[in-house]
Amino acid sequence: MIDFVNVKKAYPNGTMALKGINLHIDEGEFVFVCGPSGAGKSTLMKLLLREERITSGKLTVGEYDLSELSEFKVPYYRRELGVVFQDFRLFPKKTVFENVAFAMEVVGTPRSKIVRRVPAILNTVNLSGKQDSFPHEISGGEQQRVALARALANNPKVVIADEPTGNIDPKMSLEIMSLLIKINKIGKTVIVVTHEKDLVDYYKQRVVMLNDGLITEDRVGGMFNEEV
Ligand SMILES: Nc1ncnc2c1ncn2[C@@H]1O[C@H](COP(=O)(O)OP(=O)(O)OP(=O)(O)O)[C@@H](O)[C@H]1O
Ligand SMILES: [Mg+2]
Repeated sequence: MIDFVNVKKAYPNGTMALKGINLHIDEGEFVFVCGPSGAGKSTLMKLLLREERITSGKLTVGEYDLSELSEFKVPYYRRELGVVFQDFRLFPKKTVFENVAFAMEVVGTPRSKIVRRVPAILNTVNLSGKQDSFPHEISGGEQQRVALARALANNPKVVIADEPTGNIDPKMSLEIMSLLIKINKIGKTVIVVTHEKDLVDYYKQRVVMLNDGLITEDRVGGMFNEEV
């Protein structure tokens, strides 16, 4: 489903953020992406989101060849992806319900479907009962669960999370990570960038380790050998 073939990424200032990535992720897989600061993890995610373009090599996601993808098709491609950021990025003046509904409105979903689907998604992320709250009225972990609900709103095939637990406490982190595992179990491909060694060890999923723009380890259910 996702294929990086000798992908390199140089930023305009000359920084070689990725130096030849070969990575295959099957549909329905769960993958942790780990590695030290500056290793290229966010760059890898930005290439997948088509926020940045590859410099050389080949990157395909499903039927989309991202180096060939024309600008007008990018919004259609992005609908296949659900994205969660470290800083949640919720609309402060919209309620929990409206934050999730908005993602559906922008792609033209009928109101009747929105009012059915939003409560169901909020239930999936254990947020029933908070739908009329505003972001400042709920905890950081709850805000991140709203972001997760929003990522799921348009039923994406792939969910990408870059440090989704970076701004929340350890107990909440466990809940977010458990939800991402649950989302994977309902059939979505899930890619999670994280520094949290304990969580990675706990879940025993595939771990792709990046170091200085290259994949240095790729293993299933393994443990970290070194500090990250
Ligand atoms: N827009 C940019 N322009 C130039 N260089 C960049 C840009 N974004 C990232 N870099 C550089 O590319 C390299 C990889 O950065 P990236 O953000 O992918 O790392 P990361 O693994 O996500 O790190 P962190 O764990 O700190 O988030 C770093 O050397 C960084 O300084
Ligand atoms: Mg990063």
